[in-house]
Amino acid sequence: MPVKFYKPENQVPLEMHKVRVVQKLNLLKVEDRLRAIQEAGNNTFLLQNKDIYMDMITDSGVNGMSDKQTAAMMTADDSYAGSETWNRMKAAVKEVFGVDNLLPAHQGRAAENILAEAFVKPGMKTLMNFHFTTTKAHITRLGGEVIELVDPKGLIPQSDDPFKGDFNLQNLRDAIDKFTPEKVAFVRVEAGTNLIGGQPVSLENMLAVTDICHEKGVVSVLDASLLQDNVYFMKTREPMCKYMEVKEIYRLLASRFDIIYFSARKLSFSRGGFILSSDPKWTDMMMEFVPLYEGFLTYGGMEVRSIEAAAQGLLESLDMEYINQGPEFIAYLAKELDDYGVPVILPAGGLGCHLNCTEFVPDMPHNQYPAAAVGAAVFIAGGIRGMERGTVSEQREPDGTERYAELELQRLAVPRRVFTLSQIKYCADRVKWVWDNRSLIGGLQWTMEPKVLRFFFGRMKEIGYWQEQLVEKFKADFGDSL
Ligand code: F0G
Repeated sequence: MPVKFYKPENQVPLEMHKVRVVQKLNLLKVEDRLRAIQEAGNNTFLLQNKDIYMDMITDSGVNGMSDKQTAAMMTADDSYAGSETWNRMKAAVKEVFGVDNLLPAHQGRAAENILAEAFVKPGMKTLMNFHFTTTKAHITRLGGEVIELVDPKGLIPQSDDPFKGDFNLQNLRDAIDKFTPEKVAFVRVEAGTNLIGGQPVSLENMLAVTDICHEKGVVSVLDASLLQDNVYFMKTREPMCKYMEVKEIYRLLASRFDIIYFSARKLSFSRGGFILSSDPKWTDMMMEFVPLYEGFLTYGGMEVRSIEAAAQGLLESLDMEYINQGPEFIAYLAKELDDYGVPVILPAGGLGCHLNCTEFVPDMPHNQYPAAAVGAAVFIAGGIRGMERGTVSEQREPDGTERYAELELQRLAVPRRVFTLSQIKYCADRVKWVWDNRSLIGGLQWTMEPKVLRFFFGRMKEIGYWQEQLVEKFKADFGDSL
């Protein structure tokens, strides 16, 4: 239950933890922020952390660790094979998911690589609510195709639908029939659908997907990387979950999906990746790839200290007083921005707050990359680093034409247990300033465009001199302030 304040106007999300280790931050002058983003080719991935005040690029591998996690790291048992650390990880997975079969991988995408190697053959289809960049890259690399079956409600930027990540179940049935079950490598549910705004999937919908898979004889896979946020939304938005224990939800899912994998950089506030199943048949199918690509079966390319942190962190992901913090801060940021009239994805999801850049700069064409342009403006305004989740994050079609993103989003991730509420308020205030000055924002053009995963290392420059104009306006409005 959220803590209720005496004066309604004082109501804010209240953390049920305190900060015991801090890190000094830098906030550069606005001219230096301009220089930094231009030197980074307007790609926030290429910024240096020393030049950043609020790092909101991701919630991956940057979540605040608990005292118990750091303590557990000290007990790590370093051995190539059969370490006690691995046994503790297995025990945590048993406690949370109720299953015995576990494989390690060095992070989420490594688990995806193994999954794709084991199941995807040329010409096969993988059906999912929505793709994630690395998932899709592994599948297409092996000649498979990704078919997205999110319900159309998921692509409406603002609504009050609580579960915009849901599959369209009829389309799922039709797709399996059309492609035939033999040609479907697997059906993948992404909990907390990343690229459409961290939007959750309801428990009812997840269970219905697994029912369809069982009925049709198709493998069901849950990407649980964002499951802790998704479970929070199930508990708070879905009547059937209100009186379920958090653990009951995790265990029910593990009993119904054939395979679950996750990035421990998200689920469990740590680092690494894992694949689990209630049926050894599936983990046996993937096992041989672990020593080949990752490392032996009891560490999988991970440092044992990270595995200890993951084991403890996984247990903490059962605690509503921990897992509520991310979604509640995100909802707070989204509400502040919405109250200011800034277009954000609503309802707020997990992972972060997403600016809807199609509305932010409505006249800018997709091929001037509105989401990246807004991201550069937000960095100049506040030293705040977000991530482009729009056309830049797509892959070009095989014939070289641009594939325009369904949603042009600038994502401001809220790593769990990291920021204070004053920092979140600062972020809302600076984004509001960018919104009020949006007429100054211009487009971007490539100066170096990589063929694969271009959003990671591609470079762009401003079209014209809009960024210098933005700096001038900042100085006029803020004077000497950083
Ligand atoms: N699945 C989902 C839903 C993810 O969000 C991510 C990573 C992965 C898989 C891959 O995991 O990074 O450990 O290899 N998302 C990060 C992000 C990168 O910033 O959204 P990984």
